[in-house]
Amino acid sequence: MSSPKANTGVSSKPRQADWYDTPRYYDLVFDEDTPLEGFFLEQAHQLYGSSRGRRCLEPACGSGRLVVEMARRNWTVSGNDISKPMLAHARGRLKEEHLKARLLHGDMCELSLKGRFDLAHCLVSTFKYLDTESKARQHFTRIADLLVPGGIYCLGMHLTDYSRTKYERERWVVEEGGTRVTCNIQAWPPLAKERKERMRSRMRIEENGSEHTQETNWWFRTYSADQLRRTIAQEKRLELVAVHDFQYDLNQTVELDGGFDVLLILRRKPDHA
Ligand SMILES: C[S@@+](CC[C@H](N)C(=O)[O-])C[C@H]1O[C@@H](n2cnc3c(N)ncnc32)[C@H](O)[C@@H]1O
Repeated sequence: MSSPKANTGVSSKPRQADWYDTPRYYDLVFDEDTPLEGFFLEQAHQLYGSSRGRRCLEPACGSGRLVVEMARRNWTVSGNDISKPMLAHARGRLKEEHLKARLLHGDMCELSLKGRFDLAHCLVSTFKYLDTESKARQHFTRIADLLVPGGIYCLGMHLTDYSRTKYERERWVVEEGGTRVTCNIQAWPPLAKERKERMRSRMRIEENGSEHTQETNWWFRTYSADQLRRTIAQEKRLELVAVHDFQYDLNQTVELDGGFDVLLILRRKPDHA
């Protein structure tokens, strides 16, 4: 007699995998807020930017959820990413919707793209993948090079509470077209001296009558509000004009030191400033 495990295809041991090698599941679990984020980015550009062009840059654009969203909103979109499977997925999504964007394989601290942009954005803590101060500074230098004067950069990330001694966990479930994904993200207490925190995502994927769990482990660089302020201050062409949070509500600004979920609006100063 076969075991219930064999019958259902359930595997209890998580498979180690890079979740960016399975973009479809990544897309599913992060897609819910995409229209709200797209609306926010567009409105933030109206409110805080002084350039009126519609050229948008997304460093580390991933599976393309926001690339597609901004292209749908008639922005001319460019993006890059270090993951080839994520880029391939993004290109597939664009093709499906008969949309266009310029997507390149590359590092978000180098950002070797030509052109100038009115809006750039990097949300969901992606910036924390840059694991050294010099990479983080290089990133801001390239953003300042690529933005037109008056162009804005929206940077969304979870700041670090260095007093935290417990795990931080987030869990949510999404279901679409017969696929159900349960996503658990866990952050270990930060290592203040090393400026890093261990992260783990676990996705339980149920589809076609079977189920499996895949797990990805990585390290994020950590930032307090002051650490972030200092890193940004190295790039004199950028000014911090407002801070919002993950409510994506333009009517509500917050203090950079006031909470941990922050969405910074940086603006490229005029050339002569
Ligand atoms: C959390 S996902 C965010 C994707 C997309 N920006 C979004 O909002 O859905 C992080 C992305 O960063 C990419 N990434 C990580 N380090 C990178 C680097 N140094 N340069 C370019 N992309 C990087 C990963 O491949 C992944 O696609």
